[in-house]
Amino acid sequence: MTTSKEAAESRKIKLAVVEQYSAVAQRAASCCGPSEFPESRAAKNYADGALSELPENSVAAAAGCGNPVALASLKKGETVLDLGSGGGADAFLAAKAVGPEGRVIGIDMTPDMVLLARESAAKLGQENVEFRLAEIEALPVESGSVDVIISNCVINLSTDKDAVFREAMRVLRPGGRVMVSDIVLVGDLPQEVADDPESWAACVSGALPKDEYLSKIEGAGFNGIEVEGGTPRPDAEGWRQAIATINVRATKPGAEGCCA
Ligand SMILES: C[S@@+](CC[C@H](N)C(=O)[O-])C[C@H]1O[C@@H](n2cnc3c(N)ncnc32)[C@H](O)[C@@H]1O
Repeated sequence: MTTSKEAAESRKIKLAVVEQYSAVAQRAASCCGPSEFPESRAAKNYADGALSELPENSVAAAAGCGNPVALASLKKGETVLDLGSGGGADAFLAAKAVGPEGRVIGIDMTPDMVLLARESAAKLGQENVEFRLAEIEALPVESGSVDVIISNCVINLSTDKDAVFREAMRVLRPGGRVMVSDIVLVGDLPQEVADDPESWAACVSGALPKDEYLSKIEGAGFNGIEVEGGTPRPDAEGWRQAIATINVRATKPGAEGCCA
């Protein structure tokens, strides 16, 4: 049961997150010289040239910590759901990978991000991708309708990670898979960082210890859980050595020997 104090705390954090990513989206919408985005930390997660065909505004809004599309082994015709799609860069790469016979749905709760992603989709003329304004704890997506869920540095921001993994399980078809890049804790944060709502919005204080994060995925019913990463960035200093990116692959059980 959530108490009213917890609900109020959760609302406060969500507002801080929306505020932070509205600012990112607005900055990205009015930028960029062609040389601006390749230097961003998020862009370094992608192979050289991988982002070059995408609208600059979408790339400038990229704020991920990994490259789940590169790890998801997407196949033509698959239906992909991107949790926390931001400016849409991963969704566009996924849409290219699944081809016109597949489709991609991006979900994000920040209106400015959804607007930016929709404008970029129109620029690209990519008709197999759509963006829905919603929270990932309550997905406006039909049960059992998705082949692959991707997510890039988003679930750490959720105030109810159990609900996110429960919803992921619901919308996947049996045998469907998740490929998530996210931030976890591998050490202790100083109290002032842990208590700071801005630090939550910056993908730090909402992060769970790695084992707890993985046990939530298992607790939602996923199996075949494989993890890569989990060591701090080599250039991390001070408390930043307490956070790390992991890439997690997991499967919804139920497809073996079943069903044509
Ligand atoms: C760090 S950015 C990452 C965006 C994108 N995945 C990328 O790689 O660029 C986090 C995004 O997740 C969205 N977000 C955070 N919490 C969310 C929630 N509970 N429901 C829906 N979207 C959320 C934010 O609005 C923001 O666009």
